[in-house]
Amino acid sequence: MPALDLGSGSLCAVSRFYITTPIYYVNDAPHIGHAYPTVTADAIARWHRLLGDETMFLTGTDEHGLKIQRAAEANGISPQEQADNTSQRFRDAWDLLDISNDQFIRTTEPRHHTAVQELLTRAKENGFIEKGSYAGYYCVACEAYYNADDLVDGTNCPIHERPAEWFEEDNYFFKLSSLEAELLEWLNSETVFPEGKRNEALGIIKLGLEDVSITRTSIDWGVPVPWDDDHVFYVWYDALINYATAVGFGSDIDEFNLWWPETHHIIGKDILRFHCVYWPAMLIAAGLQPPKQVHVSGFLLVGGKKLSKTGLTQITPADLVEDFGVDGFRYHFLRDVSFGPDSEFSYEQMVSRYNSDLANTLGNLLSRVTTVVHKKCGGVGPAPNPESELAAVAASSYQGAADGWERLQAPVALEATWNLLRETNAYLERNEPWKMEEGSDEVATVMGDALEVLRLTAILASPALTSASDAIWTAIGLDGSAADERLPDAALWGGYPGGLPVIKGTPLFPRLKVPEA
Ligand code: MSP
Repeated sequence: MPALDLGSGSLCAVSRFYITTPIYYVNDAPHIGHAYPTVTADAIARWHRLLGDETMFLTGTDEHGLKIQRAAEANGISPQEQADNTSQRFRDAWDLLDISNDQFIRTTEPRHHTAVQELLTRAKENGFIEKGSYAGYYCVACEAYYNADDLVDGTNCPIHERPAEWFEEDNYFFKLSSLEAELLEWLNSETVFPEGKRNEALGIIKLGLEDVSITRTSIDWGVPVPWDDDHVFYVWYDALINYATAVGFGSDIDEFNLWWPETHHIIGKDILRFHCVYWPAMLIAAGLQPPKQVHVSGFLLVGGKKLSKTGLTQITPADLVEDFGVDGFRYHFLRDVSFGPDSEFSYEQMVSRYNSDLANTLGNLLSRVTTVVHKKCGGVGPAPNPESELAAVAASSYQGAADGWERLQAPVALEATWNLLRETNAYLERNEPWKMEEGSDEVATVMGDALEVLRLTAILASPALTSASDAIWTAIGLDGSAADERLPDAALWGGYPGGLPVIKGTPLFPRLKVPEA
């Protein structure tokens, strides 16, 4: 009998899901414009873990380049110290927000230097890198060259609204123009979302691609070019490669082949050109597969302007966590910011969403249910009715949530989940279990159904509410963590076993006062 093949042809192939955030510049502290893509990626990663997928969630910091070197000079410290200090601030912010990244990459790590050198050497050996000279307007904040036509009033960067600088250098060029056909082919499948952003990337290519300079001699804070000591790689060509480094490119090619190219990049619209044109081209030039998908978000705006480190409108995650808690913070950005378009940040909207969805719909349901179970069922949770009218609502909520998370539309997923809660509140209002006879079958049926909804909600909301989901889980007498359940089985109606002690605790989400205008 032939031996069982448990290698790549194995029958029990695992489903893998690799998701990344952009890596953040370390010139200044994290703000909510960074937290938004990170919380989104975190929730998606958590959803895939619930599905039982082997999940890799990567975030990190982008530490080379002129922007960082200048920030270090301004702070009177070395670029390495600047990177160490600020990278730590990003880690701290992500710890605070309960971000469950599997890796945190720093572009100053030796493994990354090796990966950058290997990938770009391959591109050179394949004939895609050549020496030349370059002159143009450069915005240090963007770390990007602009054409004179792109500048506002002939001088200012269109994003940072401050003067771009004239740079001239000898450097190596990446022959982007020779990869047009390959890029068009990549973009002509389901690669960039939303559709409008895919068209934007196609538009860039159709306008005609120019070769791009990928090295610098003017600074030394970067990854050295292995074939020419006078040069370092330009920060973007170093940064993009982080996504390959983290899963083993340059250090463990078998590991890399497990994850690549099944990758989902989450990015902001300002870095579309780099991720949807340059990055796939670099990979193709190195003989690798371009990424599977790029998801492009809009900006969070304050007073119509992009929140930024250089602007005056900086709001830190810690400021908001102080007022709303971690779950309140996460829920707002996931529920209220649709992934794709720009979105105006509003503190008032955040308070109102917290009060309506968390304090009222969810918090009240939990306290109502635990109170009635104590008064009418001796504190022991009954099992749900298999024929409950809520079973169909639960099934459609699950479908809606699964569909929303799959399409990276957290608002859709959470709306579907909260629909089940609203229907359950209405079911309690109709049945008024608080008026029913203590210990009756009648009250047991209604409360069993409500407890089952709380069990389901703890699971389905766990990508967003990392603490509250476990608080609900424990309150209804279940052991372990909602996040350890596996979908779709755990979403089947009837999983709450009954006979468990229900705990009456303090309100999960105390109501907040709406600030005075
Ligand atoms: N270091 C580069 C990314 C390299 S990825 C290989 C970079 N860093 S950044 O810190 O300036 O921005 C990182 C991400 O944060 C970008 O996707 C950017 O769009 C996002 N945001 C920064 N401010 C933002 C808002 N106000 N709103 C939403 N996202 C914003 O670019």
